[in-house]
Amino acid sequence: MQGQPQLGDTSPEVFRKQLHQLADWIADFREGLGELRVAPDDKPGAIRRALPAQPPENSEPFDKILADIDRLIVPGMVHWSHPMFLGYFGWTQTGPGILGEIATAPLNVNAMTWRTSPAATELETLVVDWLRQWIGLPEEFGGVVYDTASVGIMHALAVAREEAAPSTRTLGLTARNLPRFRVYTSDQAHSSVEKAAIALGLGEENIQRVPTDAEFRMDVAALRAMIERDLAEKYQPLAAVATVGTTSTASVDPVPKIAEVCREHKMWLHVDAAYGGGFAILPEYKWITQGWGEADSVVINPHKTLFVPLDFSVLFVRNLERLRSVFTLVPEYLRGDTVEAEKNYMDYGIQLGRRFRALKAWVIWRSFGRAGMADRLRDQMRLVNLLVDWIKADKRFELAAPVVMPVVCFRLVASDESSRRSKTKADVNSEIVARINASGQAYLTQTKLRGRTVMRIGLGNVLTTEDHVRRAWELIQKMASEL
Ligand SMILES: Cc1ncc(COP(=O)(O)O)c(C=O)c1O
Repeated sequence: MQGQPQLGDTSPEVFRKQLHQLADWIADFREGLGELRVAPDDKPGAIRRALPAQPPENSEPFDKILADIDRLIVPGMVHWSHPMFLGYFGWTQTGPGILGEIATAPLNVNAMTWRTSPAATELETLVVDWLRQWIGLPEEFGGVVYDTASVGIMHALAVAREEAAPSTRTLGLTARNLPRFRVYTSDQAHSSVEKAAIALGLGEENIQRVPTDAEFRMDVAALRAMIERDLAEKYQPLAAVATVGTTSTASVDPVPKIAEVCREHKMWLHVDAAYGGGFAILPEYKWITQGWGEADSVVINPHKTLFVPLDFSVLFVRNLERLRSVFTLVPEYLRGDTVEAEKNYMDYGIQLGRRFRALKAWVIWRSFGRAGMADRLRDQMRLVNLLVDWIKADKRFELAAPVVMPVVCFRLVASDESSRRSKTKADVNSEIVARINASGQAYLTQTKLRGRTVMRIGLGNVLTTEDHVRRAWELIQKMASEL
């Protein structure tokens, strides 16, 4: 009735129609994705200016909202799922991944305790254990799903801190004569180590960056020397963070040797396998898991390499009770919800409310199986090796780091000379990346290695084929010729 406020939800008939409409929209989007620009060339603020600033007072039809998504949102996106998106670690959106996300939406549960969400809790325990089996971690490791690896390392170091300085949980940091802790990680490790130190009050400058060898792996002799120096200055070594698949080059630290140092000095060993960990499902990559069994914690992001849509990161801790004992805290209003013997995942971190993330992992992992994921990862390696051959065959370019996983860092050899000649004075490698990204035809990233800017391609997208990689390489060659 005109003028009457509408209460309740969309009627079942209309909702069904809208869902079909959305299903078509999603299928069309996936099918036509390769034809879109990978990235917009808008200036910051352009998208907001095109959107109405006033909040909606009255109901708007779904048709109009969907049309605006098409008109205003889709063209303003960097399309991470585009087959020519070759930045960061590629991206792993898939049909089954989307189905898993969609199936999660209507359930909309809060997986904080077993009683508030029995199936969500038990499925989380199950899929986390599937992952443990796939990567070959001993059974004494238990895991918990967080949104990101940054949150994972923060929780891991909180446990390390509690074990080294008991009662920090209760008494806090102030007015106590606590040791000055140090955490060691390589100069290639991710900045989430510093972020964790900031959050935990360990202090950013107490994250000590250990130099790496020629292949960007932690230099363990340097680690030992830094620890000795710190001990002499009355610091207390708290933890070492070893990386398996570093952010720039996907290098793998010598975890067994780092584990030895940790054992000697009674330090916590955290393995940051956020990116590289997924490759452990391949027998030919089992070597990357050496030493993990001696770790205290291991983090893996299946949303990077194991096809689960963002966000899905798993922190494994040797004896998960160590994590629970630091974070369990049952408010009175949840006391009745926590009597069962089953896990209450709110006890394993600072979050109370938790999404049902396990469902999307269960859908995608059953849809592909380990073998299906392994085939896709191997295909990424095939494509990356082709690219490596092409780079080697063009004498204007050189590889800037060994290729361990489907990540390639390379540079224009003539770039120093070209940079000198360039009017903008920007590094030629940066300029190639910027021009390609601005063209909307492909998307790459850049990084700095030993002070030099290099181009970087990371594969991970199931839609990326040999043809796409070839087109990207030809674009790079063309840009290099033009500069
Ligand atoms: C090696 C490594 N560790 C940790 C992270 C942080 O991951 P997240 O975005 O899940 O916090 C990244 C991100 O790329 C990474 O490459």
